[in-house]
Amino acid sequence: MHNAAFAALGIEARYEALDVPSAALPDALARLAEPDCYGANVTVPHKVAVMALLEVLTPEAQAVGAVNTLIQHQGRLVGHNTDASGFLRALREDAGFEPAGALACVLGAGGAARAVVYALLGAGARVALHNRTEAKAAALAREFAPLGPLELLSAAELERRLSSCDLLVNATSVGMGERDPDVSPLPPGALPARGLVCDIVYRPARTRLLREAEAAGLATQNGLPMLVYQGAEAFARWTGAAAPVPVMMAAARRALEPGRA
Ligand code: ATR
Repeated sequence: MHNAAFAALGIEARYEALDVPSAALPDALARLAEPDCYGANVTVPHKVAVMALLEVLTPEAQAVGAVNTLIQHQGRLVGHNTDASGFLRALREDAGFEPAGALACVLGAGGAARAVVYALLGAGARVALHNRTEAKAAALAREFAPLGPLELLSAAELERRLSSCDLLVNATSVGMGERDPDVSPLPPGALPARGLVCDIVYRPARTRLLREAEAAGLATQNGLPMLVYQGAEAFARWTGAAAPVPVMMAAARRALEPGRA
């Protein structure tokens, strides 16, 4: 989507994937800080670890506790977080969902879940959080408690809360990729009673969770709009140009949802 955006605006630049083992992260960052580079995105598993290697973080990246975008500025890399705003924009513009006053059940406690919970609390939602490893969810809940109403759920409590939530967000990596496409982060038979089910996974385009939610008549959204909007904000910050969102959306759809493009 970034290469399509560069081409659409006539910008001579190239976006490429770098596979960086944890031990090589400092060297990769040194290369990305060179003046011929706009910056980079950071993804699993480096979104939290990269923070310790950066001199400058935006207040939002600091508050979320995860970095997904690096901007090169005068030979230094600044750590941003565009996942939180990308998630909110996808909810509002693509799903027509307004989080203010809603009860949101969120699954996960990693870097992606941090951005989702931060965004939802900032937008005035109440959040109920569940994670496989409860201690990680408890730590996240303690940290984010000052931002708004945030409750911790055990697995049994999650099943009960599904009857009253307006939004369910899967912010775990369960269901992601070709390796294990047929697993759901919810126990068999468990689904919200109403509202929107949102999976931040974008490959496959319809996770098992989304297929089951659709079959039950619930509204669904996959991770593609969030991916595009976090990318659009990063693009605008790298280049100083307005991101051609429809071009980026079409390119991402062609790559990830070929049957639907
Ligand atoms: P990201 O930055 O994409 O959020 P992460 O920090 O590795 O990646 O977090 C992955 C999330 O998916 C975690 O909440 C993880 O749960 P744990 O904290 O218990 O590890 C969750 N997750 C991954 N595999 C899972 C599985 N098989 N069942 C339940 N949760 C899982």
